[in-house]
Amino acid sequence: MKSITIKSPATIANLVCGFDILGLALEAPYDLMKLEKTLKKGLEIIHLDAYNLTTVPENNVAGAALLSLMDVANLAHGFKLTIDKKIKPGSGLGSSAASAAGAVQAANMLLDNQFSQDDLIRFAMNGEKVASGVKHADNITPCLLGGVTLIRSIYPLDIIQVDSPELFITVVHPQIEVKTSDARQILKEEVSLKKAIKQWGNIAGLVAGFMKGDHELIGRSLEDVIIEPVRSILIPAFDEVKKRCIATGALGGGISGSGPSIFMLNKSLETALQVESIMQEIYTRVGIDFKTYVTKLNKQGITQTEEEL
Ligand code: HSE
Repeated sequence: MKSITIKSPATIANLVCGFDILGLALEAPYDLMKLEKTLKKGLEIIHLDAYNLTTVPENNVAGAALLSLMDVANLAHGFKLTIDKKIKPGSGLGSSAASAAGAVQAANMLLDNQFSQDDLIRFAMNGEKVASGVKHADNITPCLLGGVTLIRSIYPLDIIQVDSPELFITVVHPQIEVKTSDARQILKEEVSLKKAIKQWGNIAGLVAGFMKGDHELIGRSLEDVIIEPVRSILIPAFDEVKKRCIATGALGGGISGSGPSIFMLNKSLETALQVESIMQEIYTRVGIDFKTYVTKLNKQGITQTEEEL
């Protein structure tokens, strides 16, 4: 194979209580990426989207990830990477992870899958470092593997795929910018034991809820006493969105990644659509532009596609 086109999905990191350790993949939106082998060594990057991202490989999220793979792959050829981003950078929907994970997964597919999933996660984290200054894997892992994933540890890497029932997911992306690096800087370094106990009860409950397919347990475990109270201040109308969506029947939800997007998990498509209407009504009234998605849990992660860029 000389060329491959893939779909690299949006992801929701943290899943409210699991800061930096839990994440899930969405069916939509997704980035399209085409990777071609070239006779000329090195890496050329082309962006077809209008996000004005750098195409200097070392400074580009997909480029940094792919270069770290190329460093150890000892290739006799180079690559040309064409990216059409549909996941807006800074949305809280794993835009950088989609770039980083998509680039290394596509390369691995062209290189007869010579690298393991753990290798790919490590390469892709170099892209996350370029994006936010931190190597976190809670977007990269669900993007690569699909479904719900738990990062028990990064050093050494210990990834667990968590079974899950079918879920319908509603997302609203208020069109304001929240940089992950800023949203990390405002967090407190210390956590009280009382809060920690509550938080790990919720994390364990959430994982058990996914594995048992217990929607009610999932819902009541979607509680964050550490990060959300600090970060939610950056998102206009957050409390109202959350309260009214849950009153409408959503299982629960909160900030997607570091925001500003807000997500809600739902048992049925019908509820997911009602939740979308509530989100639309609130941000129309508040006067902030927004985009909404009603989608499903993506169990596949990155996949090859016939779609054209
Ligand atoms: N876990 C990361 C954070 C995800 O919340 O900062 C960023 O997308």
